[in-house]
Amino acid sequence: MTIIEPPAIRTSRLTLLPLLVEHADEMATVLSDPELHTFIGGAPATGPDLRARYERLVAGSPDPAVSWCNWVLRLREEDCLTGTVQATVAAGDHGEVAEISWVVGTPWQRRGLATEAARGLITWLAGQRVRTVVAHIHPDHAASATVAAAAGLRPTEHWHDGEVRWQLTIG
Ligand SMILES: CC(C)(COP(=O)(O)OP(=O)(O)OC[C@H]1O[C@@H](n2cnc3c(N)ncnc32)[C@H](O)[C@@H]1OP(=O)(O)O)[C@@H](O)C(=O)NCCC(=O)NCCS
Repeated sequence: MTIIEPPAIRTSRLTLLPLLVEHADEMATVLSDPELHTFIGGAPATGPDLRARYERLVAGSPDPAVSWCNWVLRLREEDCLTGTVQATVAAGDHGEVAEISWVVGTPWQRRGLATEAARGLITWLAGQRVRTVVAHIHPDHAASATVAAAAGLRPTEHWHDGEVRWQLTIG
């Protein structure tokens, strides 16, 4: 599989910008609320920790058959970063498979931004020969389940690490 280089993706209010190490300091503030980790585990990272993590993400997957695609969400009207989306893309039995996830900083939640970003991401993935989109969501995480459903994913009977596998088959 050719490594996929993520482009900027424009939706009605957001620009999904390919992740850069330089985004780390602003993102450390955007992601500073411990509540963001209720369902995904971990704790807010400091600027230097996030910078180190972004350096690893930008360097890409050590497996050449897997693409790590990461974006920050820029809310154009407020000229600020508000969250992230990511897609890990690999070859599957029936075309390429993308595992996706989303995070929106607490001050910008409940405005439909995660849904808008997820839809924009999936539209782009569909143009990259991705045929299966997957997300793993904690069964009690109502907000994330609503985002997944609005983006066209449906829950399956498969579980992984205490989370339900949601899936969308394209075309
Ligand atoms: C999940 C998350 C990304 C949602 O972001 P968001 O921008 O607020 O999502 P949206 O505004 O698109 O809202 C999605 C839906 O969930 C609902 N919702 C939002 N927060 C909610 C909450 N705390 N409880 C119940 N429903 C909630 C919204 O009302 C909306 O439903 P609606 O379209 O029927 O009004 C955000 O809560 C988050 O980052 N959580 C922490 C990180 C995380 O767990 N990521 C998931 C990894 S897969």
